[in-house]
Amino acid sequence: MTALAPEGRILGIETSCDETSAAVLDGRGALLGHVILSQDVHEVYGGVVPELAARHHLQRIDSVVEATLAQAGIDFADLDAIAATAGPGLVGALLVGFTWARAAAFALDVPLVPVHHMEAHLFGPVLEDPEAEPPFVGLLVSGGHTLLLYCPAWGEYVRLGSTRDDAAGEAFDKVAKMLDLGYPGGPVVSRLAEGGDPAGIRFPRPMLSNRQVEGDADYWDFSFSGLKTAVLNRVRPLQESGEIDTHLGDVAAGFQEAVVDVLVSKTMRAVEHFDCPRVLIGGGVSANTRLRAELEARLPEGGRLFRASPRLSLDNGAMIARAGLFRLGRGEVADADTAVQPNLPFPGMIPLTSHAPNA
Ligand code: KG4
Ligand code: ZN
Repeated sequence: MTALAPEGRILGIETSCDETSAAVLDGRGALLGHVILSQDVHEVYGGVVPELAARHHLQRIDSVVEATLAQAGIDFADLDAIAATAGPGLVGALLVGFTWARAAAFALDVPLVPVHHMEAHLFGPVLEDPEAEPPFVGLLVSGGHTLLLYCPAWGEYVRLGSTRDDAAGEAFDKVAKMLDLGYPGGPVVSRLAEGGDPAGIRFPRPMLSNRQVEGDADYWDFSFSGLKTAVLNRVRPLQESGEIDTHLGDVAAGFQEAVVDVLVSKTMRAVEHFDCPRVLIGGGVSANTRLRAELEARLPEGGRLFRASPRLSLDNGAMIARAGLFRLGRGEVADADTAVQPNLPFPGMIPLTSHAPNA
């Protein structure tokens, strides 16, 4: 059930990190307008500078929304609800989008729907594939988070594992920085990896071993900071001897292979545990072609991989609008006390130990 009529219009606003984005969906979830503006200013600094991110959101949000509404062929007054990212993310950046949305919702007298950024990444594939529905094993891999979960129904998430240190995307970004390849690192490292031999340099698979059994503390969790150090130890002598350029492809491919192997192996553990061959991936790293290919290859027969096109895998307003549509349908709207939270807890998350199968 959705509280929005099929011909209703919801605006989604995303400003949690370095993309200023807005989208309009109708009540059926069809995408009518979508603008994503990436802030290239951070490239100069090799990472996102929070103050600059907030300032750039503030400077651009009006025109991003205007362009989105124009694409959708509607006026401001045609909106029936506004959804905005309330967290997790950079507090200053979140504040710009959420406060803008609150003011707009107040002016229009329409509901404001607070959205969890990572739950919204689960809705990325839904925008393009009507079959991307629970039950599924969910793998969320972004610049700030790495989370493995099982979703029996929208809004119910069984927590399996998360990273104990760096996120998967962060590892790509740090390796890129180490190799002077700029920011963000994922796209450039994966491009370089295409020209390298994945078996040329073997890096360790952190927290992955055949001896692990369910119940072990590290069976579901991830860790990527040791891998980053292993890459650094391998790269430094090559940089010092001036040989790095001829080995870049192999370093990138070997690193990517280690990340992908860990992510896919743990995802397949979840597939087996829940006897659920349906896997949905979201977040910036889910745009990685090697990750997608390996997941498809290791899924059991009859399995399905749900993933969004790269544009909808990375941060975008459309997934915020789509998650907002779901939350609005449950009557979950903001009140005067709703505030942004940099560490907003994932809604509806329960530990594996309290999940009763088929309950
Ligand atoms: O979801 P996202 O756009 O922002 C966050 O919520 O963090 O994810 C951004 C992350 C960055 O760390 C970026 O390096 C990574 O996704 N990324 C990739 C690829 N494209 C983006 N990582 C690996 N392969 C890619 N093709
Ligand atoms: Zn994201």
